[in-house]
Amino acid sequence: MKILKDKKIIDVLCCPHCRAEMYVREEGSGVIACKGPKTHCFDLSSVGHANFSRPSQSGGGDSAVAVKARSAFLNKGFYSPVSDAIEKLTSKYLTDRGVVVDAGCGEGYYTMNIAKNGASVFGVDISKPAVEAASKRAKREACDNAFFGVASVYEMPIRDGSVSVVTNIFAPCVENEYRRILKKDGVLIVAYAGEDHLMGMKRIIYDNAYLNEVNRADLPSNIKEIERIRVGADILCEDNETVMELFSMTPYYWRTSKEDSDKLKSVEALRTEADVIISVYRAE
Ligand SMILES: C[S@@+](CC[C@H](N)C(=O)[O-])C[C@H]1O[C@@H](n2cnc3c(N)ncnc32)[C@H](O)[C@@H]1O
Ligand SMILES: [Zn+2]
Repeated sequence: MKILKDKKIIDVLCCPHCRAEMYVREEGSGVIACKGPKTHCFDLSSVGHANFSRPSQSGGGDSAVAVKARSAFLNKGFYSPVSDAIEKLTSKYLTDRGVVVDAGCGEGYYTMNIAKNGASVFGVDISKPAVEAASKRAKREACDNAFFGVASVYEMPIRDGSVSVVTNIFAPCVENEYRRILKKDGVLIVAYAGEDHLMGMKRIIYDNAYLNEVNRADLPSNIKEIERIRVGADILCEDNETVMELFSMTPYYWRTSKEDSDKLKSVEALRTEADVIISVYRAE
């Protein structure tokens, strides 16, 4: 049993049902509970994550198959320049040693890179298989300062004004909810696809491949952007398995007709590019 040991993370949690503060019920019990009148309890799994989703939210997010493909692809290191840039920005703005929340953390590839320098990180995702994979990874790496919970990023089990940095990487950006949990002067770091992201792959699939739309509708609009960087990387997939892993972790996987998707099935190698924008916003 992996126990939630990081007191800083426990202190920012709140009950998804009654919003009361949370505590570890008995040292070593693997149960966290709220201090509200109904004492809502949340069991930690054998790998240490908790399910904070409410019945109306459960079952969404990425499937086990998608999580497996993305983990396999990310573990090959193609996105490590992106991950390192996010980690550097997080360290730069984490000046008070407070808590980082990774909203839409998937299987924790970026979360764990942020945690490696000792930052206390809470990863939130609505996908149970993703959170389970993230937690297994933290357990494998004996990392006590990363904790993962199943919950929607639209309504996180986190206290108002309690966290120092929110990272939001290729996942839904919910400005109001992220601002709610951030401390005054806290920072929101959003990573999303730049114009040229994966164009090499898109050119194989589509006859008229368009540049990506960078003015995403959900990007923050009521909070000040204080820094923006663009990170590029050359991606060389040397076998079809890797090509298909990459394809299945993109939104195109869901949007593309079978006829167009099938074009990738015979591709033995693919050179494409990562083009990622990382924007930093400061809460006031
Ligand atoms: C493209 S993946 C990115 C995962 C991870 N940040 C990464 O870059 O490897 C998007 C993630 O957002 C999660 N997601 C989608 N809608 C969500 C919601 N309403 N609440 C929490 N997570 C959500 C999915 O389950 C998935 O893990
Ligand atoms: Zn409660």
